[in-house]
Amino acid sequence: MERIAICPGSFDPITNGHEDIIRRASLLFDRVIVVVAPNAVKHPVFSVDERVALIQTVCGNIPNVEVDKFDGLLVDYVRQKSACAIVKGLRAVSDFDYEFQMALANKKMMPYAETVFLTPSSDNMYLSSSLVRQIAQYGGDISGFVPRSVLKPILVRMCPGEDIQNKLII
Ligand code: PNS
Repeated sequence: MERIAICPGSFDPITNGHEDIIRRASLLFDRVIVVVAPNAVKHPVFSVDERVALIQTVCGNIPNVEVDKFDGLLVDYVRQKSACAIVKGLRAVSDFDYEFQMALANKKMMPYAETVFLTPSSDNMYLSSSLVRQIAQYGGDISGFVPRSVLKPILVRMCPGEDIQNKLII
């Protein structure tokens, strides 16, 4: 039986840390579906469709990875796709409470699916989309934090009116 994993998140925007987790999940499962989910407590910079398109530029060449979006309970999506696992990156102790809470609630609602936590590579331990947004917003260099294909779209959105050419030379 095909082993399908769901890799959910806000991905606003996708970072090197996300890419790392997705690539490693693709080696563990037959199929990985990266799903952009609207997170009610956040005010996104990119629309859901834009985030899906950005992820596609990063993961489109990984044969067993596809990108999708959904609006609803994650467990319903997991059930709909007959997935056996939810894959998430667990960066630091600060992530633990929130992720643990979601994993337990999801397990209670859908006992047959496991939440699998992957540890990011040490390079990406501290990385988050909100950090990238903040650095970009104040004109900092984000080229080391995000995949090459998403650098320009992020700068265009986050630094309107600024000359971004020098930030694209890496
Ligand atoms: O990237 P994030 O913000 O950590 O992702 C959180 C996300 C989108 C995975 C979570 O908010 C989610 O699963 N949302 C869908 C709604 C849902 O199922 N909520 C209950 C989780 S127990």
